[in-house]
Amino acid sequence: MSAPLLEVRDLAVTFSARHRAELQAVCGVDLVVEAGQLHGIVGESGSGKSVTMMAVMGLLSSGARVTGSVKLQGEELIGRSQRFMRRVRGARIGYIFQDPMTALNPLLTVGNQISEAIRIHDRKITRRSADARAVDLLRLVSIPIPERRATQYPHEFSGGMRQRAVIAMAMANEPALLIADEPTTALDVTIQAQIMDLLERLRAEKGVGLVLVTHDLGVVAGAASAVSIMYSGRVVERGHVDEVFAWPRHPYTRGLLASLPQLERRLARLTAIPGSPPPIGNRPAGCSFHPRCTFAVDRCRTEMPALRRIGATEAACHRAEEFGPLATALPSEAPHAQP
Ligand SMILES: Nc1ncnc2c1ncn2[C@@H]1O[C@H](COP(=O)(O)OP(=O)(O)O)[C@@H](O)[C@H]1O
Ligand code: SF4
Ligand SMILES: [Mg+2]
Repeated sequence: MSAPLLEVRDLAVTFSARHRAELQAVCGVDLVVEAGQLHGIVGESGSGKSVTMMAVMGLLSSGARVTGSVKLQGEELIGRSQRFMRRVRGARIGYIFQDPMTALNPLLTVGNQISEAIRIHDRKITRRSADARAVDLLRLVSIPIPERRATQYPHEFSGGMRQRAVIAMAMANEPALLIADEPTTALDVTIQAQIMDLLERLRAEKGVGLVLVTHDLGVVAGAASAVSIMYSGRVVERGHVDEVFAWPRHPYTRGLLASLPQLERRLARLTAIPGSPPPIGNRPAGCSFHPRCTFAVDRCRTEMPALRRIGATEAACHRAEEFGPLATALPSEAPHAQP
């Protein structure tokens, strides 16, 4: 059996802070992404999604301590040199960030920067071939009249077109894996849908594995095959997206689902999550979700729940067995108090 495209095991990231205890941003994260699979990573702001992805790509500063294992096509990436990781990024992992302007150089034409991204990783290709390939890539991401668009500067592109250009650049060296961190958050809703369609098409047509990071569970509905829900630096639930949506076992996932407008009616009896996530230096003991959880019992305040399989998904909640599937369990949503 060949190794998975991306295999993350027990990943932890700690930031050292002057005059105070170390800050653990991410802990015990496992993630497996197969070729051609879309894996959604969902959680509120500050849950550790970006730190996890930066660790995978070797982009964290030297102040961050990364432990665990990140294997790309079976090859360990943790502890490799900057030089090695630069080759991995761009050639084997393409990445797309929330704000396309941070990825584009305002002083170079879009065609030139894509062409350059190709030539950095392929020393033998001629300038002319790389330029032609840049136009092909703009066509791949459905930019109209790509020959003309290639000669324009980023400021001449709309927000949606810029994000398409960034995706073209991420695809320049035919990476096996694309990591998209909130790729649609800065865009308006219709454009968001178009960018999601594009990423979905690249996955289906090119067979790339795609990690899609988002704070919006709605974005992964109907798109992701697997989803990991993160809270406070840990994965609290994961499974196939259809299973997680049909029968979420963690109160946090249930709360996220309740806040989706398209599910509001079906979930009328679920309440959205009160409060906000704890700051990184002040995460509560036990289950870090307990201050916001309507179902918290004494045990939740002292004992951290492990991620474990329950039915078709895995969840880290002491009371996970007590929640029913969403379609049928609403009338008796609140489980009975535990002794
Ligand atoms: N360089 C850093 N030093 C200290 N803390 C950091 C650093 N980068 C991120 N963090 C903290 O790590 C936590 C997770 O951040 P992040 O992964 O960016 O969250 P998100 O899920 O919104 O992407 C946050 O509490 C953030 O403040
Ligand atoms: S372990 Fe307790 S506090 Fe945490 S989500 Fe489950 S019920 Fe809520
Ligand atoms: Mg982020």
